[in-house]
Amino acid sequence: MSTHEETDSRSPAQPFWLRGPFAPVTDEVTAHDLPVSGELPHDLAGTYLRNGPNPKDGASRHWWFGDGMVHGVHLEHGKARWYRNRYVRTARYGGTNLGAAADGEDASAARARRLRGGGTSNTHVVEHAGRLLSMVEAALPMQLDRELSTVGAFDFDGALDTPMTAHPKRCPATGELHFFGYQPMRPYLTYYIADAGGRVIAKREIENLGPSLMHDFALTEQYAVFFDSPARMTRDWGDGMPFEWSETHTARLGVVPRAGGTARWFDIEPGHLSHTANAFELDGTIVLEGARCARFEVSPPCLHHWEIDLGSGQTRERAIDARIVDFPRIDDRRIGRPHRYTYVIELCDFVDGTPTGARLRRYDRTTGASAAQDLGPRRIPGESVFVPRGDDPSEDAGYLLSIVYDGERDGSELVVLDAATFGAPPVARVRLPQRVPFGFHGTWVPAP
Ligand SMILES: [Fe+2]
Repeated sequence: MSTHEETDSRSPAQPFWLRGPFAPVTDEVTAHDLPVSGELPHDLAGTYLRNGPNPKDGASRHWWFGDGMVHGVHLEHGKARWYRNRYVRTARYGGTNLGAAADGEDASAARARRLRGGGTSNTHVVEHAGRLLSMVEAALPMQLDRELSTVGAFDFDGALDTPMTAHPKRCPATGELHFFGYQPMRPYLTYYIADAGGRVIAKREIENLGPSLMHDFALTEQYAVFFDSPARMTRDWGDGMPFEWSETHTARLGVVPRAGGTARWFDIEPGHLSHTANAFELDGTIVLEGARCARFEVSPPCLHHWEIDLGSGQTRERAIDARIVDFPRIDDRRIGRPHRYTYVIELCDFVDGTPTGARLRRYDRTTGASAAQDLGPRRIPGESVFVPRGDDPSEDAGYLLSIVYDGERDGSELVVLDAATFGAPPVARVRLPQRVPFGFHGTWVPAP
């Protein structure tokens, strides 16, 4: 760790995302055969990847605006074979000016330039059809290779001509990747489906919608569900957050048949969907659960439940819990089907509005109860990712992986929990060679 970083991370004058466990790291590291305490399960073979903002110049105007950096830990045969962290080398990272149209350049050309290279690519990383894609909702995804080096912007062979959400959903039945792009001009919302081979097979403009902040959405067996937020997108991405909260635009849920057809919109209480846990159909009703803020960037997120009766058109909703939680994840094999367990990060302590303590929590939808997983004093977990154990279809047959910040030594570790004994001590902890700044979302890529 450099002196420069330590100086930055300890300066109280810095905003929260530039100091302490949020502070960017300066080095791209490759390390092999990492120390493990406990026992890594031998059936855990693959790479855990996590994306997050890490401003290259050491500063950014908002936590969300730092350049994307992907951290990877490769596990195999009970060993932690390697750790790598790499910047996603977007055009923006490379210093390309992605601002307004240059002299003689028309607005659509400037926009295409920003679409291809304007995003930070700092939010999520997923694999589909053998391609590793780093993503942010402002631009095209960036393809990475297995060693996390950047290949380039990926546009699904020209089919993707809008930004792409960082929260695509893979249908466990068809293997299709469902995703969307939103933007402040027409088409405001475009819904895409790529088949299991990675070819875009459907692309539809969703009607009866204006420019809405749409960070996440949901997928059921027959429908895509979109959240039309009172957070309106008032301009394109650039300096500052391009959203304004409307007191007159109520929130709505839009239900779109996957097979094609018209969107139906349903009014709900004003609020904003931070992240989807899951959605599914039950006796003609669509159930959606996720982290909801009463007001974007003002109110803290809590787990929430919505229902849409497709026959009567009636909606119902309720808070599931008053705890402050976000980053909900489930066993991805349950996407679009009734699930039992939702794993979240619970924010426990705040200093000056900044979370300083957190733990994992698991909600059991069948009992309504929840249980906490403390990771030890001054240990703060990131989003957990569920990894199934072999072909066992049981919903808790698997592992939870999370990168945990250890405040005692200002370092990070990859923690492996047995989901069946949630709440018990970790089965293994992999000590990482450098601190991993708090970031956003991660994924598990099984070994081929
Ligand atoms: Fe997200």
